[in-house]
Amino acid sequence: MPQKAALLLGGSGLTGGHCLEYLLNDAHYNQVVALVRRPLPVEHPKLIQQQIDFHQLDDCLAGMQINDVFCCLGTTIKKAGSQKAFHEVDFVYPTEIAKLSIATGAEQFLLISALGANSGSAVFYNRVKGEVEEAIARYGFKGFYIFRPSLLLGKRRESRPAEKFGKKLFQWFSFVFKGVLQKYKPIESRTVAYAMVEVAKEQPLGKQIIESRQIQSIYDQR
Ligand SMILES: NC(=O)c1ccc[n+]([C@@H]2O[C@H](COP(=O)([O-])OP(=O)(O)OC[C@H]3O[C@@H](n4cnc5c(N)ncnc54)[C@H](OP(=O)(O)O)[C@@H]3O)[C@@H](O)[C@H]2O)c1
Repeated sequence: MPQKAALLLGGSGLTGGHCLEYLLNDAHYNQVVALVRRPLPVEHPKLIQQQIDFHQLDDCLAGMQINDVFCCLGTTIKKAGSQKAFHEVDFVYPTEIAKLSIATGAEQFLLISALGANSGSAVFYNRVKGEVEEAIARYGFKGFYIFRPSLLLGKRRESRPAEKFGKKLFQWFSFVFKGVLQKYKPIESRTVAYAMVEVAKEQPLGKQIIESRQIQSIYDQR
């Protein structure tokens, strides 16, 4: 069994929390380093929590050897307060970490992007997601996996009315999400986290885009 070190970003979040759980319980990894703003309420012999200032990432990986990076960072424009602040979390931090981690020898980067990511999009959110995908691809990781889930399901501490509405819409019209529309079907955050960890254990395959349907089918094959 390989003994690898994982770096996790966003471990306090919905998908990142599930990712942390899968990583800690997977013998493929003997070390999980979580970069956090505030300590996570989790203790585990494999877990190293690094409390950092995300505005000053330069030395945050000094002396570390990382194999696989799991990036579950993200915010909303409403929560961040401005497009600039959103860009910082969803573009600047992931690309900075990609640059720093490849210098530590990291081979794989697993990024949660989003359905509709497109650097040419007129929609700011989709454009930033597309741009971060392209920027990280330039670092040439042996495996760069871009997960593009649809609406994420799961229990959040905070209230997100737009997400709640999307979930209701799905419940009322679930029969619609078939055929070509299946990629819009909301997906459990746990499912996304599972797929990230499973894909990371395979041989690196360069840049791969994994859409919601494919994420679901990786989970269904477990
Ligand atoms: N929500 C959806 O339906 C949806 C759909 C498709 C794709 N996505 C994407 O999927 C990814 C994961 O989404 P999620 O809903 O699981 O995330 P989430 O629950 O909102 O968690 C976000 C994570 O990012 C961290 N973060 C946010 N702002 C930060 C900042 N300024 N500095 C440092 N860390 C910060 C949070 O840390 P703190 O706990 O310290 O705040 C948290 O760990 C995101 O990239 C999102 O855009 C979401």
